[in-house]
Amino acid sequence: RSSQELLILGGFVETWLAKEGHDGLIGINCLEKIQLFTPGTLYGAMLAGVDVVLMGAGVPRAIPHLLDTLAAHGNVQFSIDVADAGDVDYALDFEPRDLVDSGGEPLSRPVFLAIVSAHVLATYLARDPEIRPDGFIVEASSAGGHNAPSRQQLLDERGDLVFGPRDEPDLQKIAKAGLPYWIAGGSGTPEMLTAAREAGARGIQVGTVFALCSDSGLDPDIRAQLLEGVARDDLVVHTDPRASPTGFPFKVVDVSGTMSDAVNYESRERLCDLGYLRTPFAKVDGSIGFRCAGEPVHMYLRKGGLEDETVGRKCLCNGLAAAVGMGQQRPSGYQEVPIVTLGSDLQGPRRMIAVHPGGWTAVEAIEWILS
Ligand SMILES: Cc1cc2nc3c(=O)[nH]c(=O)nc-3n(C[C@H](O)[C@H](O)[C@H](O)COP(=O)(O)O)c2cc1C
Repeated sequence: RSSQELLILGGFVETWLAKEGHDGLIGINCLEKIQLFTPGTLYGAMLAGVDVVLMGAGVPRAIPHLLDTLAAHGNVQFSIDVADAGDVDYALDFEPRDLVDSGGEPLSRPVFLAIVSAHVLATYLARDPEIRPDGFIVEASSAGGHNAPSRQQLLDERGDLVFGPRDEPDLQKIAKAGLPYWIAGGSGTPEMLTAAREAGARGIQVGTVFALCSDSGLDPDIRAQLLEGVARDDLVVHTDPRASPTGFPFKVVDVSGTMSDAVNYESRERLCDLGYLRTPFAKVDGSIGFRCAGEPVHMYLRKGGLEDETVGRKCLCNGLAAAVGMGQQRPSGYQEVPIVTLGSDLQGPRRMIAVHPGGWTAVEAIEWILS
């Protein structure tokens, strides 16, 4: 119960703070794969009036019904994928009225946008009203953060995943689903916004230009290094097929002093203490355990995981926390080392740094994109 209360509180506070001081729309983004946190976080966000829910990294078929039910403060039986469970189905019981006294008034039901890369997924979700989102974010393979798996699984000489033309979204087919869509991945320039609209999209979703702006939470020293790399035009962004314990490819920027450096990776003793990306698994006695391919290998194997799964995995939880200046220090003195992610299309940041050599704000980025 206390963990559900904390999730509600977290979703509420994040949304409340994001909505302060303006009357624009606020969205919340969750990974589909991280299911146990979903009902509590989204209910909290809805109590604070979140306008949009965005979800990718999986097939978010349960979310439209979840949002409808939570808006009416209804009880939810939310299906949870459990590894090694055979035919047994597991679900999380979430009963909002038992957790929060939020009055009887229905909440406003946020718009739900599914993040997709393949038109097949868009078509599948759009076909059935029970699982149909209100629109799509269509993400190209250059986007920062996690990416959809590539079709051909081809690696270059550095071990980076190579995306081919068949990995890029087919916008015409996605448009046929008949739902509004926004294009993401290297779209953060005025010309790309115009092109997206002309192609029938409602707009764009931009990450990299904002991650680099002075308002983002990125550690200022890391940001300074990144901006120097952008200005010199020698910043390298890899698509690492192994780094993320989720199994999805993940964009990692080469920055000295971070986890992109093999020496830093090798010298970190594996440890899983934040656990946001853990996968539930069924133990022999039917109870549930949790494992992460980034945890110490012997523990992962003891929990029924396969050794192959652990190779090259990085602790994204600690690494991304360190990238926003919240890295943990261990009793041994070891300081968690950042992992930095950006999109691989740096056109927008290159043009911004030419005009703003000292860096730019989020407002300046928005004004430029809309110019
Ligand atoms: C630092 C950073 C973190 C991101 N984290 C997430 C995330 O947690 N979930 C998600 O769906 N997308 C995430 N993204 C992707 C963005 O939502 C967006 O789709 C993408 O950045 C657009 O492409 P661009 O990077 O070329 O601007 C992230 C992007 C960046 C740069």
